[in-house]
Amino acid sequence: MRGGQRQKGRCVSGQGHAWWEDAVVYEVYPRSFADADGNGIGDLPGLRSRLPYLADLGVDAIWLTPFYPSPLADGGYDVSDYRAVDPLLGSMADFDGLVKDGEAHQIRVIVDLVPNHCSSAHPLFQAALAAAPGSPERARFIFREGRGRDGELPPNNWKSMFGGLAWTRVTEALPIPGGRPGQWYLHLFDAGQPDWNWRNEEVHAFFGQVIRFWLDRGVAGLRVDVAHGIYKDPDLPDDPDPDHLLNAVNAPSAYHHRPELQQLYRSWRAILDSYPADGFPGARTAIGEVWADSPGTLRPYLESRGLPQVFNFDLIMASWDAVAFRKAVDGVLALADGSRAPWVIGNHDVPRPVSRYQLDEAFGPQTANRLVSFGHDRHERGARRARLAALLLLALPGSAYIYQGEELGLPEVADLPAAARQDPQFRRTHGQSLGRDGCRVPLPWTPAGADFGFSETASPAPSWLPQPPDWGGYSVEAQLGDPSSFLSLYRAALRLRRAHPALGRGTLRWVDGPHDAEGLLCFAREPGFVFAANLGQAAVPLPPHGEILLASVPDAVGPEGELRPDAAVWLSA
Ligand code: NOJ
Repeated sequence: MRGGQRQKGRCVSGQGHAWWEDAVVYEVYPRSFADADGNGIGDLPGLRSRLPYLADLGVDAIWLTPFYPSPLADGGYDVSDYRAVDPLLGSMADFDGLVKDGEAHQIRVIVDLVPNHCSSAHPLFQAALAAAPGSPERARFIFREGRGRDGELPPNNWKSMFGGLAWTRVTEALPIPGGRPGQWYLHLFDAGQPDWNWRNEEVHAFFGQVIRFWLDRGVAGLRVDVAHGIYKDPDLPDDPDPDHLLNAVNAPSAYHHRPELQQLYRSWRAILDSYPADGFPGARTAIGEVWADSPGTLRPYLESRGLPQVFNFDLIMASWDAVAFRKAVDGVLALADGSRAPWVIGNHDVPRPVSRYQLDEAFGPQTANRLVSFGHDRHERGARRARLAALLLLALPGSAYIYQGEELGLPEVADLPAAARQDPQFRRTHGQSLGRDGCRVPLPWTPAGADFGFSETASPAPSWLPQPPDWGGYSVEAQLGDPSSFLSLYRAALRLRRAHPALGRGTLRWVDGPHDAEGLLCFAREPGFVFAANLGQAAVPLPPHGEILLASVPDAVGPEGELRPDAAVWLSA
């Protein structure tokens, strides 16, 4: 058994709490993590061989984004077989080996469940295409007749989140009496991702089997993709604001935050709780990807019998401002603690924090585009701020998620050539939105080498997204021996978090500074811990404290004991 946090998180015969309530989970985007066979695409054996790195970093679990067979219309979120491993990424034996080795390293495995849509290559969707309108095969998806004289207009005005229409018209395979033109099917995302019809019992039964399949293989949890979007208003009414999705507005609508969702999540919770691993209920978690416009919209997902957890993206959505950050934290804490709504500052859908924080404003759909022209000065500022945000993330009560490469301070690769980009968002908006490839560039492990150690073979194929020439400077190897590196900061913070009795689950109490200390964000946790950060432009006095346990940057505290701008410290009280 390693360290105190592991002890804190371990539940003994029904006492204590579930492991996930204070877990630090590391998000792995498998195609970009480590490539064992040298084909330029990361894989499960690559990940498995790097488990010692993750154990050393100090994380409790990994969440794997989809590694299932997929035509890759959306980086694997277009699943053509929910119960298999894409041969490009390995085999089921590799997956089982990963879970087993994970156990040996005390790292649990969470897998992605994609219930809103599958791939258009999925056999059930292919069967729907081959069947006639009105058939049971079509009823598993959302097919409708078009509007207009010959059905040439889509059934309603919904738009895809990736740009363009949310409907695609099919060519009927069967001769149709009366020669009617083809139907349309709904896809909130790419045309290669048809939405399931959750008003069909067969869909419920199918996903029940998928969930059990992975739980039976020993996974510790599921991350539920688009958990706010699975049900649609059965009338499919026109949307008063059809640019909702494109503009990432996450208010309730005909396709978001439908009340029917909670009944579904209760049924999934019952499945999870029927797996009493570790000798206590609640051993398996499921965490919903719920983008919400306000804490009120998030509230229904936090009912006690629903999903064990939902992400809160409020730190990502906050502008660089102490008041905005405090509001983001308070908004969530008023509903639940961070155990049920873990904290996160980045993921595979959002520009990297180091780059995002070069801007003062909140994250929005155009953020990636705005980063293209930024130079070195801005980078320094973003990096400094990202280090502050990391210490905040890991000091807040509850659980936190880290996206691979955040611990290396990787920037967004904003200038990927158009020909290299693979995100459907880029394609479907005709380049108007750069999309998300910039945060998915394969990791650097060594300072030199054809692909900076991404592959473990001698002459690997080029990585599936090109790495920038300076990538080696960010590599694990370059950072390990450098006490001032990002990686050293994350490792130190995770070690302290495990050992310190105030960190992990619990509560916080805000500490206000003097009136003129505008940028100060400060809270205390018991026993004996204080977090202080300065998001303003002038130095602020530190609150009364004992010693400095950890500083985000070497020059965080000035000669008079003042906290410098864009710096944070962990203090003993
Ligand atoms: C959310 C996932 O995180 C994202 O990568 C994906 O494109 C959409 N859901 C659709 O599955």
